[in-house]
Amino acid sequence: MVAGDGIGPEVTRGAMQVIQASGAAVEFTELDWSAERYLKDGATVPPGGFATLERDYDAVLVGALGDPRVPSNIHAREILLGMRFQMDLYANVRPVKLLDESLCPLKGLQPADVDFTVVRENTEGLYADVGGVFKQGTPDEVAVQEDVNTRKGVERIIRFAFHYAHNHRRKKVLMADKANVMTHAHGLWQRVFKEVAVEKENADITATHMFADALCMQLVRDPRPFEVIVTNNMFGDLITDLAAALQGGLGMAASGNIHPGKTSMFEPVHGSAPPLAGKNAANPMGAILTSALMLQYLGLVEEAQKIEAAVLEAVRQKKTTQDVGGSLGTRECAAWIADKVQH
Ligand SMILES: NC(=O)c1ccc[n+]([C@@H]2O[C@H](COP(=O)([O-])OP(=O)(O)OC[C@H]3O[C@@H](n4cnc5c(N)ncnc54)[C@H](O)[C@@H]3O)[C@@H](O)[C@H]2O)c1
Repeated sequence: MVAGDGIGPEVTRGAMQVIQASGAAVEFTELDWSAERYLKDGATVPPGGFATLERDYDAVLVGALGDPRVPSNIHAREILLGMRFQMDLYANVRPVKLLDESLCPLKGLQPADVDFTVVRENTEGLYADVGGVFKQGTPDEVAVQEDVNTRKGVERIIRFAFHYAHNHRRKKVLMADKANVMTHAHGLWQRVFKEVAVEKENADITATHMFADALCMQLVRDPRPFEVIVTNNMFGDLITDLAAALQGGLGMAASGNIHPGKTSMFEPVHGSAPPLAGKNAANPMGAILTSALMLQYLGLVEEAQKIEAAVLEAVRQKKTTQDVGGSLGTRECAAWIADKVQH
């Protein structure tokens, strides 16, 4: 576990308590990779850190990283993007599920109406950090940020989305891009998507396409038709924040950074929320639902289901933090869920 910065330690403590209450046979090791550690001795990830994670652990649970005392955010980049890139966690999976009508900002939507998953490419695109600046600080300054799309990277994330649909009894996969403007990069996505969609094993899945801007509009107008959405790194980042709002805000959203068969990393979608840190006010549900995703990945399905059911009950009974309409603190909310899981 990498609890990290800000509200990270508070929400991961809650998640760990709930995992333990579920009876899941999970042993935790806590790593102090954080702003605190970086400010103390300059270390972000110790030498061989990622190799150790892959060798000695089945999964990594992360709280959040980001601290105003480290304005460059270098530690967060090296730890988080480091895990994604160096451990090749190519699929960022973000289930978007409305647990209760009261949490949705859209009028009249029921839980069954908001239930889809975004599969975001996680290792390339605009996040590859390829580019540079030229004539910096002059009126002629040029800044270039390359969008890197490889055949291998695009193909494996699209295949992942179809597998995910099969494994979760979903019948529809939609790809979002901007192939109308980014003709080279997203032309590749289009070709690969069409190839994979017509393969025999995907015959029972309906493959459709929308431009990413139209998708954003449609998600707000009516999110009901969507089941699995696959998209690139940058659009996935934007679409999942919008989607998180449909399920009650960042405090409710869970994610997994997955490479099937390898040590994978699980983190709530939210950041370190510095203004909330240390106030016992952060919503621990995103982290708790993330831990359920992690248990599922580890094959502890029954424990994961118990946790999801307990979170649902907490939402229904308003045993929640203020951001989703309750009056409990972080600790009290997590303790209520842990108690529910145990009994
Ligand atoms: N994966 C990550 O670790 C991650 C993701 C996003 C941002 N960050 C970092 O976090 C820091 C803060 O970034 P930000 O403010 O843009 O994003 P943030 O997610 O920390 O906060 C955005 C808003 O959501 C609220 N919020 C977030 N989590 C919440 C929770 N659990 N309960 C209740 N409210 C919650 C915050 O109070 C704030 O109003 C920055 O350093 C940023 O780089 C880290």
